[in-house]
Amino acid sequence: MSVRWSALVLGAALGPLIVHAQTSASGILLSDIKTIFGFGDSYSATGYTPALGVSNFPGYGNVREIPKSGRWVWLQYLSQLGTDGDIALYDLAASGAVVNNSISTPLSLIPAFTDQVDTWINYFEQPMGQAIVTSQVSWEANSTLFAVWFGINDAGSASGSGNSVSPQLSGIFDSYNRSVAQLYAGGARNFLILGVPPMELAPSVAQAGDPTTSLYGDNADAVNEALSNFVDTFPTVYPEARISLFDTQPFFSTIIASPETYGFMDSTTDCVAYSLITNQPDLTLPVCEWPMSQYVWWNSYHPTWAVHRLLATVISQVLSPPTTTSAAPSGPSTTSGTESVVPSTVIPTTSLSSEPPASSTSGSTSFSGSGQATGSVAPTQSAGSSPTSGATRAGGRTDGVVVALAVGVALAVGGAGGWALVAL
Ligand SMILES: *[C@@H]1O[C@H](CO)[C@@H](O)[C@H](O)[C@H]1NC(C)=O
Ligand SMILES: *[C@@H]1O[C@H](CO)[C@@H](O)[C@H](O)[C@H]1NC(C)=O
Ligand SMILES: *[C@@H]1O[C@H](CO)[C@@H](O)[C@H](O)[C@H]1NC(C)=O
Repeated sequence: MSVRWSALVLGAALGPLIVHAQTSASGILLSDIKTIFGFGDSYSATGYTPALGVSNFPGYGNVREIPKSGRWVWLQYLSQLGTDGDIALYDLAASGAVVNNSISTPLSLIPAFTDQVDTWINYFEQPMGQAIVTSQVSWEANSTLFAVWFGINDAGSASGSGNSVSPQLSGIFDSYNRSVAQLYAGGARNFLILGVPPMELAPSVAQAGDPTTSLYGDNADAVNEALSNFVDTFPTVYPEARISLFDTQPFFSTIIASPETYGFMDSTTDCVAYSLITNQPDLTLPVCEWPMSQYVWWNSYHPTWAVHRLLATVISQVLSPPTTTSAAPSGPSTTSGTESVVPSTVIPTTSLSSEPPASSTSGSTSFSGSGQATGSVAPTQSAGSSPTSGATRAGGRTDGVVVALAVGVALAVGGAGGWALVAL
């Protein structure tokens, strides 16, 4: 069974930003999630490398990788939005990663999805993964989310060499499918898949102009279409699993088109000075026109932490309990009819989801390991600046309407403290 749904409504009035969340058609609820395994590229990478220590967050000593956002990436923020404290995050994403190094223009020293899955099998697949054997990690299928965000570099490497990605798509998605199958075989049952953002709007691409810009756009669209087709076939192949596809295009397009609505002052340029500094989220440099947090772009190809934080917030709403509101004034109509109040701005998202049949036993498949869970996630470690200026999570739910966060500064980070600076 699969349900296509749309309409996550993000409205901003003056003052607080109000997030109206739509039914989570996938059946995945963030409130049930205790562990997240992340797979992806620089839009998700934290530098975490289990070879440096399974509980070594976010990868101290791994000088190759720091979050490319000036602070954290979306998975780190998402992992703080669990209901019972932090969610344990094991994020295997690596900057520059593609789905399969043999297919996309090889950056073959960088672990692709295929390699990240191998690492996951080695350390986390139960019952024999190293981290399980050493009792460092315990996770259960029904409370574990597999977050997968690939395609930016598959599309981008084709675009960068002036080619269409289309001839490679069937190979890429054969491999993608095999990697997902490996995760499923290892016990993965909840998948959150993210699509390729409108990379043609990133400063470095936008500045290039056509035909480069349109090629980036076309290749992103092509990958997203293949991704959507993959997710379509998913329920028949993996009836016991759940999947939610989050289309990042409307999220980015809306913020870029109306930055001020979301607390940003600049959505088209980056200030190079900020991209040389990390973990100082509230930095304001005189050489830049705005504080770092008011730029959509941290560098010419990567969004700031503030965008990542907003993305995590929106995704947390997608993974929230179904709303049963009937008090839904005139908003845009949606396929499910459970829509909520619409203030001024709408970020439509498209999500293709599947739920296991009611009789499915997916919820009871247990892969619990032998040891106690560890994995309290990085954000609580170390000293440094406080995460976001006085940010508090002011979330509350009423009638399916989730009232969250104030624009710009209050998009919530629960933990205090940053983590050590690692040089670029
Ligand atoms: C990666 O791509 C190559 C070339 O198409 C293929 O032979 C290989 O099986 C793929 N790897 C995985 C794990 O799917
Ligand atoms: C994915 O692999 C399964 C077998 O593991 C196959 O049945 C299915 O058709 C594949 N899906 C795609 C989109 O290739
Ligand atoms: C997950 O499965 C375990 C073991 O079957 C069960 O005890 C637990 O309640 C389940 N949790 C959820 C959120 O369904």
